[in-house]
Amino acid sequence: MSTAPFLDMRQVSYTFPGWPPVVQRVDWDIAPGEFHCLVGRSGCGKTTLLKLAAGLLRPDEGTVLLQGRPLPAPGPQIGFVFQQPTLLDWLSVRDNVLLPLSLQGKVRADDVARAEALLAQLGLGAHLQHRPRQLSGGQQSRVAIARALLPGPSILLMDEPFAALDAITREELQDALLAVCRERGTPVFFVTHDIAEAVYLADRVAVMDAGRIRHDVRVALPRPRVQDVRYSAAFNALCAELRHAMDGEGIV
Ligand SMILES: Nc1ncnc2c1ncn2[C@@H]1O[C@H](COP(=O)(O)OP(=O)(O)O)[C@@H](O)[C@H]1O
Ligand SMILES: [Mg+2]
Repeated sequence: MSTAPFLDMRQVSYTFPGWPPVVQRVDWDIAPGEFHCLVGRSGCGKTTLLKLAAGLLRPDEGTVLLQGRPLPAPGPQIGFVFQQPTLLDWLSVRDNVLLPLSLQGKVRADDVARAEALLAQLGLGAHLQHRPRQLSGGQQSRVAIARALLPGPSILLMDEPFAALDAITREELQDALLAVCRERGTPVFFVTHDIAEAVYLADRVAVMDAGRIRHDVRVALPRPRVQDVRYSAAFNALCAELRHAMDGEGIV
């Protein structure tokens, strides 16, 4: 397998016209199949950086390469999951997952079968015909993950997708997400303000502050991650390191 970066951001800067810079000279690369998290306080520029990685915003300076090429127009290569599941309530769960394909007029019988298999893998096999309002918040998040994965994106970008969920549901979703992405080999760039969530999910965590990446932590915990790892000394040491970095300690 190639070790060239899959997503490669070099010296990326972005400013909303008339405002101070929001993202400043960020270097970040994601190797194939890796799971990276981005943590930082509210307003530090996380969502803006994710939109730059998605091609939803163009950098003022610097480059963003996906598999060695400049980012194409936003399309099926990039899956994006927002904090809110943003499901359409007049469509069934299955049709919500098929929506990105049906909008392009390309739903084939095997797409329907793949959507059903993905929903079954995410524990929603009994809810294919239900409407989103008949599901819990955690189940709705699972539908949003299935919808993002169905077109076969080469990378998944997620912006605090579990922030509105209770702690136990969030932990279940973390396991479900790790399992589906691992099976597909899909790399993920995941924004969260929850340090323990970042350590549990990630191979590498970036700490962002005032538009810059201030700290970079490798998470060498064994995979697949299991819930008990949360109680290990290594896990807690990483959480403490990240917490100190967010508080501005130990940074040169
Ligand atoms: N459309 C916009 N116009 C001007 N400023 C914006 C706009 N969107 C976001 N910002 C500002 O950019 C900064 C970073 O925002 P954002 O990337 O959403 O941060 P985060 O996701 O870390 O909370 C904030 O100060 C925010 O007010
Ligand atoms: Mg944000």
